[in-house]
Amino acid sequence: MKEVSEYIQANKDRFIEELIELLKIPSVSADSAYKGDVMDAAEAVRKSLEAAGADNTELCQTAGFPVVYGEKIIDSSKPTILVYGHYDVQPADPIELWDSPPFEPVIKDGKIFARGACDDKGQMFMHVKAFELMMQTNQLPCNVKFIIEGEEEVGSANLEKFITEYKEKLKADIILISDTSMLSMENPSITTGLKGLSYIEVEVTGPNRDLHSGVYGGAVGNPINILCEMIASLKNENNYITIPGFYDNVIEASNKERELMGKTPFDLSDYKSKLGIDEVHGEAGYTTIERKGIRPTLDVNGIWGGYIGEGAKTVLPSKASAKISMRLVPNQSDEEITAKFKKHFESIAPKSVKVDVRPHHGGEPYVMPIDIPEYEAASEAIVRAFGKEPVPVRAGGSIPIVALFEDVLGLKSILLGFGLDTDAIHSPNEHYGIENFLKGIETISYFYESYSNKK
Ligand code: BES
Ligand code: MN
Ligand code: MN
Repeated sequence: MKEVSEYIQANKDRFIEELIELLKIPSVSADSAYKGDVMDAAEAVRKSLEAAGADNTELCQTAGFPVVYGEKIIDSSKPTILVYGHYDVQPADPIELWDSPPFEPVIKDGKIFARGACDDKGQMFMHVKAFELMMQTNQLPCNVKFIIEGEEEVGSANLEKFITEYKEKLKADIILISDTSMLSMENPSITTGLKGLSYIEVEVTGPNRDLHSGVYGGAVGNPINILCEMIASLKNENNYITIPGFYDNVIEASNKERELMGKTPFDLSDYKSKLGIDEVHGEAGYTTIERKGIRPTLDVNGIWGGYIGEGAKTVLPSKASAKISMRLVPNQSDEEITAKFKKHFESIAPKSVKVDVRPHHGGEPYVMPIDIPEYEAASEAIVRAFGKEPVPVRAGGSIPIVALFEDVLGLKSILLGFGLDTDAIHSPNEHYGIENFLKGIETISYFYESYSNKK
């Protein structure tokens, strides 16, 4: 497959221009003000698949944003790769922290800066271009199907129904996804695990109205003080989560596994300096790689209440709220942990307040075995593109549909991501390295070949 790098070299400027056009569409699924743009992005992705040579491209309607479908069936006796990705992006705010506008992509220091540059438009588009390459150089060795959704960043609420209804149409042998990161360009890795998620909003209500903080302060429960105390009590001095039964179903990694994880090429001082922190923080007795990959976590994602405007207003608020995420590992389940959290959080509330616990979307964790031919094929493809054997790494992020792909379609997913943890996904100044983008296209093309040879 010598044409692979030649084709990429000859067409890379156009690939980048096309990606930039896609990044200009503000497809923010969380904000209804962008509804039309999300639809435009879906149509743009459909067109790109069609132009790359896919047949039967369509926008499959769901109760939410459509799923873009496309396929190329060359021979039904050959294996089929099902590519998954998402065309929606996270909101861009806080917009004032961007060095350039989030939907006006710019190239700086070899990186494309825009919301969605890495997560996931840039990574998803590598698949469109790798497919184009295989078609144009007449070497597509297997069948391929694409499902690119528009609701990943808001929990993929309609996707389970979609894959259940379209089970026949989505028949495949393996799922291929680029929506994760790797360690570094020098140390390529394959993601072998995703965390599950339990996401909860809590509201603490004290008095029936806001009060004067002098007239009533010290005599009436302050919901903000109490919420902070309740949240603080969710972890002990060793940063263990104190919710009863929280760790009951956690599969502990064996010493051998932990020994292997200890060999992961990971530079802690570089990690700290890139984040501007003097020390890392987490569960006692575990390394940073372990905390990220194999340990469940609990974090407040947002907290509010009382007066936050300019100057001072002496007020004892009636209500305080927080959004809390718990990242789960095998064999914890969203339902189990959400129920345990709810019961515990209600039980620790003092009588001076009422608490309301409202679960949001969640998802189940996923692990991929590394002794299957599909992993081997991914590993071979990386060796060809990067000249180095990849290491398996478990991610801290979540893609809830991956566990459902296994349950509903009976298919494993290969998580072949080319982002870097420093790409600032979900943050201001999100970016994606052009080299990562091009290496990704190359690796995916090799994967087609190594995978088909193994089947
Ligand atoms: N692509 C990310 C997930 C990810 C990023 C996994 C980096 C591994 C490494 C995905 O778009 C995402 O942001 N997922 C959400 C979950 C969802 C339910 C909103 C997440 O992890 O917060
Ligand atoms: Mn993503
Ligand atoms: Mn994301």
